[in-house]
Amino acid sequence: MKKITLITGATTGTGYGVAQKFIKMSHNVCITSRDAKRAEQAAEELKAFGDNQVEVFGFGLEALQENQVISVFDILKERGYLVDKLILVAANMGLNMPNFFEVPYEDWIRVIDTNIGWNFMISRQAAKHMVALGGGAIVVVGSVNGIRTTKNRSAYCTSKTGLHGLARNLAVELGSYHIRVNTVVSGGIKTDRYYARPEIQNSVHNKTPYGDIAEFSDIANAAYFLADDSSARIITGAELAVDGGALAQFVYEEEGIRLPDGITFAD
Ligand SMILES: NC(=O)c1ccc[n+]([C@@H]2O[C@H](COP(=O)([O-])OP(=O)(O)OC[C@H]3O[C@@H](n4cnc5c(N)ncnc54)[C@H](OP(=O)(O)O)[C@@H]3O)[C@@H](O)[C@H]2O)c1
Repeated sequence: MKKITLITGATTGTGYGVAQKFIKMSHNVCITSRDAKRAEQAAEELKAFGDNQVEVFGFGLEALQENQVISVFDILKERGYLVDKLILVAANMGLNMPNFFEVPYEDWIRVIDTNIGWNFMISRQAAKHMVALGGGAIVVVGSVNGIRTTKNRSAYCTSKTGLHGLARNLAVELGSYHIRVNTVVSGGIKTDRYYARPEIQNSVHNKTPYGDIAEFSDIANAAYFLADDSSARIITGAELAVDGGALAQFVYEEEGIRLPDGITFAD
């Protein structure tokens, strides 16, 4: 059996960048998308980043359809591949939802289900392949919103906190099978959304101490570091912040935090 890396939500943006990295590093890669055609097209394009030996597949995978999840892993096995690395990028961002008082529960729980339950389903099938291989690695793309939180994004922030918890739990559940599970805690990423919307560019998350936020390659490099046994052999259950220091910063001067009389930020 040959080894393959499975990356969810990888037809564009961050996931595509992660796929590029693994392909450039000569890994066989399977990308997934809710749109099967787009996945196949992106897989064809991505082949250009690898040498002739590298195989790239694209599969459709609807959110929360466990039978489809099982079928993707079965098809890979039939083709002679076992998944040794899983990178969970796809997420329901829970954007543009009504506020806390008005959001329909069905919409709220859908975000939680997608970002936790669906990743649980995929991780479980991947872990079966990894057990057969004698080990493997799962990398979850989490968020600074899983550690801190943002007003009006209750569903997304809660889901990412849960996802970080799932990763820690899987690290413990699967450790004895030599399966490592870690989280990239992503701060802002320069997505198309970021470039299209000035309010995102100006949001507090994107004013980092370092003065910059992540390119796709920054997330890809961190995911690769955590997935690769030569860099992270003994790292499991860990969270790696890729956020320009955003989480480390206590207050944002720009927010106009009121300090006691006579005390300045310089103190
Ligand atoms: N963007 C940021 O600033 C930021 C900050 C912190 C953390 N993150 C995390 O980093 C990862 C990538 O972020 P991104 O902004 O690049 O993500 P994105 O492009 O919004 O989403 C990534 C992929 O997830 C899939 N997806 C989107 N909505 C979905 C839904 N409702 N249900 C199921 N799948 C869905 C899409 O794939 P298909 O359409 O092909 O299915 C999409 O290409 C995510 O896990 C995100 O939570 C991002």
